[in-house]
Amino acid sequence: MKELIYLAYLVSAVLFIMGLKLLSSPKTARRGNLLGAVGMLIAIVVTLLDKAIIDFTFILIGLVVGGGIGLLLAKRVQMTAMPQMVGLLNGFGGGASTLVAFAEYMRLSGDASLTVWTGANVSYDVLATLVLSLLIGTVTFTGSLIAFAKLQGIMRGAPILYAMQKQINAAMLLGAIVLGVLFVLDPSLWLFLIIIIAIAAILGVTSVIPIGGADMPVVISLLNSYSGLAAAMTGFVLSNNALIITGTLVGASGFILTSIMCKAMNRSLGNVLFAGVGVDYAAGETAATEQRTVVRYTPEDAAFMLENAQSVIIVPGYGLAVAQAQHVLQELASILISRGATVRYAIHPVAGRMPGHMNVLLAEANVPYDLLLEMDQINDDFQNTDVALIIGANDVVNPAARTKKSSPLYGMPILNVDYARTTMVVKRSLNPGFAGEDNDLFYEKKTMMVFGDAKSVVTNLVQVLKK
Ligand code: TAP
Repeated sequence: MKELIYLAYLVSAVLFIMGLKLLSSPKTARRGNLLGAVGMLIAIVVTLLDKAIIDFTFILIGLVVGGGIGLLLAKRVQMTAMPQMVGLLNGFGGGASTLVAFAEYMRLSGDASLTVWTGANVSYDVLATLVLSLLIGTVTFTGSLIAFAKLQGIMRGAPILYAMQKQINAAMLLGAIVLGVLFVLDPSLWLFLIIIIAIAAILGVTSVIPIGGADMPVVISLLNSYSGLAAAMTGFVLSNNALIITGTLVGASGFILTSIMCKAMNRSLGNVLFAGVGVDYAAGETAATEQRTVVRYTPEDAAFMLENAQSVIIVPGYGLAVAQAQHVLQELASILISRGATVRYAIHPVAGRMPGHMNVLLAEANVPYDLLLEMDQINDDFQNTDVALIIGANDVVNPAARTKKSSPLYGMPILNVDYARTTMVVKRSLNPGFAGEDNDLFYEKKTMMVFGDAKSVVTNLVQVLKK
């Protein structure tokens, strides 16, 4: 029986690894997701069969209530709110690790009231991983709640900074580690575990509040990695190989994603975590700007320009997702292609609000994958392009990233839309993007501003071109 269970865990681990591999391309991502889900189902079923479960009542209640809430949220959540949803799920993962690890401690102690430690000789490695599971799991839980609150607009996104912040955080971490070592030496000291959980809960909050909203995706990805580590530690506590492997995969892939995002923003992880970069503007509020003029064009002017263009590069951004204009945009691209123009899409790695956001959005509209080009593949082509058509993007084309040292965007590689013969920007106003930085591109001579909701402007363009 044991061998069969180990074999099933191995199969699920292989499915996770294959799933991750397939997730690395939009073409195979759906299949990857399915493989991962099948792997998880196998792991859950086998775990339920493996353990000597006395009563399934609570498990069933948890399954129905948790599964129901998860299903409802997944169906209801807007694509634009996906980052905070992922953040929240990471947090629950961390919280679950804490609860499971503490429950296991109660079981090991031999006395559920924790008044006496009658535990058998529990090895140091189990105790040490138990402490790590509680520490990392709780930091992930409260840190993710703060990340969720910042992205959901419940909290202001701007960094919250105070004196000696880093030093206080370091001291708290050190304190938790010292208590952890003392606990490992004497596992009857359960109160130390409670203090470690309390410190970790505060540490999760104090280490995320100094980070600006624009950097939140990186933090979410890092917390995702932490939730994996916490699960792996819990796997050691429970001697569950599936949990160890899955947790390690989540930990490693989350960390790789974090580094990819840092690279795309040209920032180091240390800079993201400790620099406290970023301002935020409440809805309707804009950055103070000096009086400059922009030239406003109608969709008819824009359609005329596009009609005469031989080459067009479309730059999608967050506004495209908000407006849900991907389908009509694809229709526009098809019309231009049928008239003989070369049309491609330039995808910035952090366009939108989550990794791969634009790919997912455009795949939904059946845009052929070979028209989607990564920034590095297409950035040199803008100079030979007639029209760079920017739909709901802002930060990823903001030249402040190249020149303005005080800008939160400084150093982030951007799409070279200003090298195209004409730059056409579709957005509703002159409001800044996520990083709160005004965009000089809008005021340039060869920039055509077409104001309006992306869906209605592009629909208009399609109608004019069809005529
Ligand atoms: P943003 O810089 O956020 O700009 C989006 C623009 O879309 C806004 O300026 C807004 O201008 C416009 N917009 C909003 N709704 C619209 C609508 N219905 N129709 C037309 N336009 C609309 O987006 P971006 O260029 O994609 O850059 C992404 C930013 O988000 C970066 O700063 C990035 O670091 C950050 N971020 C990225 C991620 C990932 S991993 N992708 C996750 C979170 C944050 P108006 O209000 O004037 O219309």
